[in-house]
Amino acid sequence: MTEDVRPRVVDRWFPCAGVDAACRLPIGSGKNEKAIAVWFASRPIAQARAAVATALLDDDTRTRNLIDSAVRGNAAAIAGLAEKVAEKFPAGRPVVLDVFSGRGIIPLEAARIGARAVGIDLSPVATLAGRVLADYALRDWSNEPALPWEQRDDTEWDAGQPRLIRDLATFLDVVGEHVRRIAGAWYPANADGSYPWGYLWAISIECDGCGRRFPLIGSLALRHPQAKSLDAGQWLRLTVDGDRWQAEVADGRPDQSPTYSSGDRGDGQLRKGKSARCIFCRHVHSLEAVKAKGYAGDYQDELLAAADDIEGKKIFRPPTQAEQASSRVDPRTLPPFPGLTAIPDEPIPANNVHTVQGSGYGYKTFGSLMCDRQAMQFAATCMAIRATHSDAQAAGISDDYARALAAFAACTMVRRLKRSTRGAGLMPFGNPDGTDSNNVAVNHVFSNESKMSFQFDWFETGLGDGPGTWNGLSKTGLRPYETHVARSTGVPAKFRQGNAMSLPYRDGSVDAVITDPPYDDMIEYADASDLMFVWLRRALGDIEPDLFGPDTPMQQRLQPKDDEIIVRRVQDPGRVVHDGEFYESSLSRAFREARRVLRPDGRLVVVFGHSDPDAWRKLLVALHEAGYVVTSSWPSRTESANTGVASIRVTVTIGCRVAVGDRPVATAAEVDREAADVIKSRVPGWTRDGLALGDQMMAAYGPVMEVYGRYSKVIEPDATIAPVDRYLTLARRAVREAIALRLESLPLETFDALTRFAFMWMKLHGRTLVPKGEARFLAQADNLRIEDIRGHLVTESSTGFRLVLDPPASVGPTSALFDVARAMIGAYMASGSEAAATALARSERPPDD
Ligand SMILES: C[S@@+](CC[C@H](N)C(=O)[O-])C[C@H]1O[C@@H](n2cnc3c(N)ncnc32)[C@H](O)[C@@H]1O
Repeated sequence: MTEDVRPRVVDRWFPCAGVDAACRLPIGSGKNEKAIAVWFASRPIAQARAAVATALLDDDTRTRNLIDSAVRGNAAAIAGLAEKVAEKFPAGRPVVLDVFSGRGIIPLEAARIGARAVGIDLSPVATLAGRVLADYALRDWSNEPALPWEQRDDTEWDAGQPRLIRDLATFLDVVGEHVRRIAGAWYPANADGSYPWGYLWAISIECDGCGRRFPLIGSLALRHPQAKSLDAGQWLRLTVDGDRWQAEVADGRPDQSPTYSSGDRGDGQLRKGKSARCIFCRHVHSLEAVKAKGYAGDYQDELLAAADDIEGKKIFRPPTQAEQASSRVDPRTLPPFPGLTAIPDEPIPANNVHTVQGSGYGYKTFGSLMCDRQAMQFAATCMAIRATHSDAQAAGISDDYARALAAFAACTMVRRLKRSTRGAGLMPFGNPDGTDSNNVAVNHVFSNESKMSFQFDWFETGLGDGPGTWNGLSKTGLRPYETHVARSTGVPAKFRQGNAMSLPYRDGSVDAVITDPPYDDMIEYADASDLMFVWLRRALGDIEPDLFGPDTPMQQRLQPKDDEIIVRRVQDPGRVVHDGEFYESSLSRAFREARRVLRPDGRLVVVFGHSDPDAWRKLLVALHEAGYVVTSSWPSRTESANTGVASIRVTVTIGCRVAVGDRPVATAAEVDREAADVIKSRVPGWTRDGLALGDQMMAAYGPVMEVYGRYSKVIEPDATIAPVDRYLTLARRAVREAIALRLESLPLETFDALTRFAFMWMKLHGRTLVPKGEARFLAQADNLRIEDIRGHLVTESSTGFRLVLDPPASVGPTSALFDVARAMIGAYMASGSEAAATALARSERPPDD
């Protein structure tokens, strides 16, 4: 195997500005791709494309230009990159592996530019999402026989659409019809034959004061008013009649208080948090008392209202008697799936209340997170997907194509799960004063990206049309899939469920590992997706058997978790402890394993989305220790995964090559010099590329780590080994020196450390809150310790630090210039120029300083 020593683009350059710009646009954000299947923490397309192209190709100007255009969505440039890849790898397509592939964004981009892309993820749910995105969508299905159903006479999906999309439109429709056949008896149709959009439910409890049952309702608004369309809005009125309560639908705005809310305790005092008030005797129940009733099995599901979708408008009404009667169903009447109960009886793991919040209210199995009827509708959907899949196979279409169709249908079911269970509340848009548009939808269950919420009143979508229904979600999923299929080229990627710490590949067989590892304690992936897993087992057990069949690796009949590389907020007793040490050592193991499968001239590129530099300092150390030379670190500003919330965070793309066997030992003095020189030579280029000062400081870590990684050991004068931290500090300082920052006309270096620190802080962050790790790095660049400046120069909160601009208590001859300036400004603001002059005199500085 000959070794290619030329620098790859990622070692020297990255389209930072292009990625930043594209991440804000649909073409580069990945929003379209994220709408196809449910997963967490996706990479933006633009960043993934940049990471793959820069890792594979050699650095030259034309390639840089092509990459820059490609990340901005230029199709000709993407094709140009594919040609470049073919030229560089004449013996065959390069293999690109993502060992934490999630929904498969990185393999998709590798496939698009002509690589043989492979994705591995510990979660079968994520692996399925990857297949749907970057395997099935890229295959050519044109030689498949026709489906056994008449094409729907729906002009939306006409003959001009790709084959896969037209067939999916039919397949999803057939599944929907099948569900209506099974579940129609539980969801009566309206007189005109249409089905309601959905149903509002609430849990009722028995009052501790009077013993009567009452519903827990957090909001009475059903549809806000809208002045423009003369719509008065609708709300839910609760009335009592003897020992019975009733829910009525009224026009206008609520004039009652909800029964579950924060407010007064009933004795005129304000109470903390939410509590439940009985509508009969007004007895107040604390949340703890309400939860205890859940654990005691005292909760009952009550149907409150039905909603029809009339030309897109949601009209609420009381449920009919037939609807009331048929909402009480018996799940035991359903036949089981092969080897599995009809309704998932898999237990929710203990200590999981922060991720599956319903388990904190006494719900013990995944099936019990829904009311019986909703669970039965999902069971019917699984049956329908399986039956439709069998019918397609029986008509002669290939196993692969039948699997692709069923897999997309199952992803549609998972998208529906996201808007189901007792955590999915009614979402009336607009406001009580009617000044806004007043659509109504059903909310999704995830808060903080991956916590499955729970509430006492929730919305169950039915068999009709509207947001969150099978029909509605089929359309909103097929549209982005159509766009995706139309622009997807390349060899279909391959995905398998597996563990990044033990890869099923030969030594030296992979050209690039490009990956986006889990981040510390941010997301408990498997726990947050087990609800999807249990239902996917029922829908696809023998259709995607390697992911959902009986022989797949499972713990307690759920997804495997022991090897999940995360920090758990709450440990599960008797299981592997997932603490910070486990996370770091497992990530190192995964990187070592990636090095084993990499060719000697291969590249590892790690995309890391943690905004705290302390987290990625640990990452740099892990990479160094796993036998890589870090060559570059490129910051990008990507949107957070919370769709719709424009919270920007910095993610870093770190380029690495495999370290060669015998590296020399060097002294810290030699390495310091070499590192400072390399930064000096790079700064003009970064400045030309428009990298801001803070970004240059992050970019400097790469080349400094590259120098550090040339040596097996770097020895300090006292014979100790120089730690990585020393070079991260040096990197920042070297950028500052190379840029030759000036304060007034004087070089920054002529000022005292505290003033330099304050100046840099203001320049980089102004008055914003700065994460703790970043603050520590800034302080280190001037040999300060955060402990020494806490309080008088920076104030600390739970999430970070802020620079103090208030005047210090006193100044004297040894005060830093920044302190003197603060004291003078404070004195001037309070008492004018005389006072400012006195402050200056106290510092014994000349008046013309
Ligand atoms: C940050 S996400 C990757 C997201 C992905 N880049 C995307 O665009 O969807 C990290 C992934 O690592 C997976 N994971 C955690 N531990 C793993 C392990 N030991 N082996 C393989 N995958 C693992 C999680 O299931 C999760 O999907």
